[in-house]
Amino acid sequence: MTSICYNYVQILAGVSSRNAFPIANNSGVMMRKSLFVLSLCAAVASTIVSPSLLASESSSKPAQAVELKPTIARGDAAAGKSSSAVCAGCHGANGVAAIADYPSLAGQGAPYLVKQLMEFKSGGRENAVMAGMVANLSEQDMQNLAAFYAEMPAPEGESVDENLAAGRQIYQGGIASISVPACMGCHAPNGAGNDSAKFPRLGGQNAGYIIAALQNFRSGTRANDPGGMMQMVAKRLSDAEIQAVANYVQGLH
Ligand code: HEC
Ligand code: HEC
Repeated sequence: MTSICYNYVQILAGVSSRNAFPIANNSGVMMRKSLFVLSLCAAVASTIVSPSLLASESSSKPAQAVELKPTIARGDAAAGKSSSAVCAGCHGANGVAAIADYPSLAGQGAPYLVKQLMEFKSGGRENAVMAGMVANLSEQDMQNLAAFYAEMPAPEGESVDENLAAGRQIYQGGIASISVPACMGCHAPNGAGNDSAKFPRLGGQNAGYIIAALQNFRSGTRANDPGGMMQMVAKRLSDAEIQAVANYVQGLH
């Protein structure tokens, strides 16, 4: 089962052939099958990831980071810190957002951060403010900034009480009746994401930003997700469901 999950995540991450991505073809059978595999993966993940394992993983983070990212050019966190002054006004000096509803960057996976910065520059992810911020950054500058933020401790936000149970249910189990897969299948049970697959950390992220991101995926304003995998998820969510899951992940760690 774990190997099926592994292959599945590889396909989702676009490592294998794009054509093999099952959600991308519009067959209902494939869709049901893929959601079935995904929910099994989520079930496997929830049984094999024990709290003690998570604790030991985070305490040995530097060694693990080296092991998981052999192909990523190494960024220089000290250089990143010195060029982050301009970013601090909005994202905070330590990467914890200084402005409510702006994204925190602390503890976010470096490969994901580099991908976003490159796409703000290329226009693959459209945002006028961020396009201006990255216009003069080289890829090495982006690697350095990403290394700096990835090393910062992730914020431990607090969940908003409203609809918390509904939000937890969506995050951990999805919504089977409307074919929404469990978020934790990709973003991990503790919300830490998956660095090498570029699945971003959601745990501790500002609820206001999570809501905006999901609305942008839903409307197609943001379409930089490989294989359209987040657009596919967000298109099925109502405003109330987006609100509930955002409230839950803000306090997840
Ligand atoms: C004037 C405010 C402002 C400044 C300064 C700023 N940003 Fe941003 N940043 C934003 C906003 C707003 C967003 C959300 C954009 C969106 O909704 O797509 C964002 C998004 C991002 C993201 C994507 C986060 C995610 O979770 O996907 C990254 C990475 C980022 N900024 C890095 C930087 C870096 C590095 C700098 C400095 C070079 C910087 N930002 C400067 C406002 C700012
Ligand atoms: C099949 C894997 C997968 C599943 C399932 C999934 N996501 Fe994602 N999600 C992704 C990927 C990949 C990205 C990053 C896309 C990119 O490269 O910009 C992402 C990005 C996001 C973002 C934007 C984060 C940021 O910092 O900008 C949010 C919010 C999000 N997902 C929420 C959810 C929620 C809520 C669910 C469950 C309802 C969910 N995701 C289910 C793969 C997944």
